[in-house]
Amino acid sequence: MRFHILTFGCQMNVADADWLTQSLVSRGWTEAGESDAQVFVVTTCSVREKPEQKVYSLLGRLKSYADRSPDVFVAVGGCVAQQIGEEFWNRFPFVRLVFGTDGTAMVPQALERLANDPALRISLLDFLDHYPEREQPEGGTVQAQAFVNIMQGCDNFCAYCIVPFTRGRQKSRSSDAVVAECEALVRRGARELTLLGQNVNSYGQDKHGDGTSFASLLERISAIPGLMRLKFTTSHPKDIAPEVVTAFGKLPNLCPQLHLPVQSGSDAVLKAMGRKYTRARYLDTIRELRRVCPQITLTTDIIVGFPGETLQDFEDTLELMREVRYESSFSFKYSDRPGVRAEKMDFKVPEEEKSRRLAVLQEMQDRITVEELAAQVGSMAEVLVEGPSKMQDSEYIFWRGRDGGGRIVNFSSPIPCLTGRMVRVRIVDAKKHSLVGEIRGEPW
Ligand code: SAH
Ligand code: SF4
Ligand code: F3S
Repeated sequence: MRFHILTFGCQMNVADADWLTQSLVSRGWTEAGESDAQVFVVTTCSVREKPEQKVYSLLGRLKSYADRSPDVFVAVGGCVAQQIGEEFWNRFPFVRLVFGTDGTAMVPQALERLANDPALRISLLDFLDHYPEREQPEGGTVQAQAFVNIMQGCDNFCAYCIVPFTRGRQKSRSSDAVVAECEALVRRGARELTLLGQNVNSYGQDKHGDGTSFASLLERISAIPGLMRLKFTTSHPKDIAPEVVTAFGKLPNLCPQLHLPVQSGSDAVLKAMGRKYTRARYLDTIRELRRVCPQITLTTDIIVGFPGETLQDFEDTLELMREVRYESSFSFKYSDRPGVRAEKMDFKVPEEEKSRRLAVLQEMQDRITVEELAAQVGSMAEVLVEGPSKMQDSEYIFWRGRDGGGRIVNFSSPIPCLTGRMVRVRIVDAKKHSLVGEIRGEPW
């Protein structure tokens, strides 16, 4: 069978798609381009209205392949699948599998059954009361960068957010299972691991936890021989423990970067969002992080135009951005999601005003990003090469990678294959969103 996976949404969907690819390939299926595929798997996101709408337009496009051949079918997974469920079957008859977060582990078997029985439809939408472990491929090599799920779901119910409804309650994996998967990945060639969860800092603090805190998990994984880089995402500011902050000054392969979504710089808005921290506490955490790890790069998520956000609240967010000087940020206009608390809140901010605030904020971020990148010029950096760069030149091959802080670095080299290698570079120039380096010494 030939399959094609289309991925939307966060890194957890990317990780699910990677696992599905490996699992299907190990069953003898082959990855194919869109026009060649017999089975399409779509992993979806419903965090805002726009990504949700993308799914419907994509299914409109996939319909043309299904119309041409009765053997072509589609599986829809992820957060929109969990939200809309079997309704997909009524609107799009060529969708023969819908699966939610906890159903992912069963998808390869389900796809095999569907391929053998054209009359069948399968729904894997139930939430389970434990983390469903997935079969781990044994042999073969993996890419230098790999993701590892450490938990599923979220218990925070921030007022704007649909994730606790689409991903279910928080369920931590056992630390032994996580560490064993990390060890196997490093053995098979991974040099950088990113631990994933909606709220990794509360790892272990649910009834499935085995007594291991997130800080101890980081320590165990950091000690795996051969692991060069360790990262994690996403962190909730209310849950980041002092031991995790100090880990940035202690664990040599823990990358000096942290994505710490602030959402707003106004205490009134943070309270209405149900974020359970104040601006002052957030800034204390930032100060402490910079004390233990002065070179740490900080990134964030911000929502503008949350219901009731005044001009002063918005100014407070801008002021916080000036103070923290994030390396980069993801910013969004507040988007109503079905069934969340904020949907029923009064004083919705008009669309044009949300757009205006977003533009002001993004312009400020762009300026800070440019200044922060320019400050790197002249320094040395270790770069893990991710692949060929979009920048090209007739004589040399241009490569693209990231430094320890997560900044994109492009550099040229006559060496024909550097993907997955580490190189030392001197930063010679800064662009709008990336750095340019010159390679020094041998790759390793
Ligand atoms: N678990 C992560 C974030 C998950 S969603 C965390 O807690 O930080 C990713 C980002 O989408 C959020 O940080 C938030 O900034 C944004 N987001 C979530 N719901 C939204 C909504 N209804 N409207 C606009 N942005 C939203
Ligand atoms: Fe959503 Fe809040 Fe959970 Fe993040 S912590 S996934 S924003 S409910
Ligand atoms: Fe989107 Fe679901 Fe991730 S809503 S952001 S795919 S958890």
